[in-house]
Amino acid sequence: MTAPPEINIGLMGLGVVGTGVAATLLRRESPISDVTGRPVNLKKVLVRDVSLPRDIDLPPGMLTANAEDILADPDIHILVEVMGGSDPAEGYIKQGLAAGKYVVTANKEVMAKSGPELMALARENDVQILFEASVGGGIPIVGCLMNELAANEIRSIRGIINGTTNYILTRMANERTSFEQALSEAQGHGYAEADPTNDIEGIDASYKLTILASLAYRRAFRHQDVYCEGISKLEPQDFRYAQELGYAIKSLAIANLDDGAVQLRVYPALLPAEHMLAKVDGVYNAVEVHGSLCGQVLFHGMGAGREPTTSAVVGDVIEAARKMGALPPGMQDRGIKPANGPSVRPIGDLLSRYYIRLDVADNPGVLAQIAQVLGDGQISIATVIQKDIQPETGSAEIVITTHPSREASVQQALQALAGLSQVRRVSNTLRIEE
Ligand SMILES: NC(=O)c1ccc[n+]([C@@H]2O[C@H](COP(=O)([O-])OP(=O)(O)OC[C@H]3O[C@@H](n4cnc5c(N)ncnc54)[C@H](OP(=O)(O)O)[C@@H]3O)[C@@H](O)[C@H]2O)c1
Repeated sequence: MTAPPEINIGLMGLGVVGTGVAATLLRRESPISDVTGRPVNLKKVLVRDVSLPRDIDLPPGMLTANAEDILADPDIHILVEVMGGSDPAEGYIKQGLAAGKYVVTANKEVMAKSGPELMALARENDVQILFEASVGGGIPIVGCLMNELAANEIRSIRGIINGTTNYILTRMANERTSFEQALSEAQGHGYAEADPTNDIEGIDASYKLTILASLAYRRAFRHQDVYCEGISKLEPQDFRYAQELGYAIKSLAIANLDDGAVQLRVYPALLPAEHMLAKVDGVYNAVEVHGSLCGQVLFHGMGAGREPTTSAVVGDVIEAARKMGALPPGMQDRGIKPANGPSVRPIGDLLSRYYIRLDVADNPGVLAQIAQVLGDGQISIATVIQKDIQPETGSAEIVITTHPSREASVQQALQALAGLSQVRRVSNTLRIEE
């Protein structure tokens, strides 16, 4: 693409993020044109319903409900997609790229499911797709993995990348509220959606981890490659025991490279209370990257919200405007190859320490039975806490932490424990990250 004298933007979506992006692009004193060296104009804005009242006054004729007003306009050079969902967003992105438009998107679902395909389509059309806002809102992690940290072999990525779950876990830890109460508070503050499944079951985080791992290892991972557990099984006593043992509970998204294979996992885990990620509270996000050259680097900031996400989207618009016409064809990005790079290591191979909470009959010999089952599975016990004896039911609660053990052996042992007559319930099992 030769550089146009003025750059025109077609914005798809005028919700939380789109309104922030439109307001920033329309500001008269905006520095964007100075930074890009060319005027950057917002030309059209796509919404579902043009009759809805809006938080922003747009110039007359800018709003449309017809996507073709953007897709078929050769004078729109950058398509900014902030609608969300797969359909029709993905189709519009493909059409935009095929028409030779640069695309900026905040859409983690589309990028996790089809990112490599879209990047290939961008390359074929000598343009680029930029997606900084798809992970971590205002935190510049995507660009850093693609550029500033590209000289490193990435040993691991560990992140708190879903603000909704982190808010819920922070409330449960600090106030000892139940999961249900913390979720309802999150919904009251607008941090959780009416249907919170994607957040609390780890699906949103698995999309984001897929994107980060694909960039770090330049291989097209699928979100199905991510082993995923949500936070809904956590109970207030898990936070009490974790604190007593010197840990915090955080929902972590982890990618780690070991012996040529990458393991991808999202689950609530115990983290030493003094660890930097353990101190990331509320709706904040943080990502810790361990690179072969840079060592440990921590990114911390607002993972969502109008302003932080606008920062990432408009940053990508500026990058697209700068690159437009500046790069030789075929040099637009370093690409993610479908079957390139390290393979995926199954979760059963994980070597981790574990926290196991059991509801048992308050009888002599119970502990010996439990120890026998764990010993049979080569799982060695690090600590045991026995508390909360309930005389009326004859139940006692036992919390065990283990030394590093194989996930597959632990899962087998948990099944055997659940089958013991003295064990009333395996209440919870969490991995301990050091
Ligand atoms: N919100 C955040 O803090 C945040 C942070 C990071 C990334 N993101 C991502 O950014 C994207 C947008 O999020 P958001 O919170 O801004 O969403 P939102 O508030 O729900 O806004 C969506 C906008 O897209 C329009 N839209 C939806 N479907 C459409 C369709 N089929 N045709 C035309 N217009 C359509 C809606 O039009 P109407 O107004 O007419 O309904 C609305 O203006 C999502 O991919 C999200 O994951 C959001």
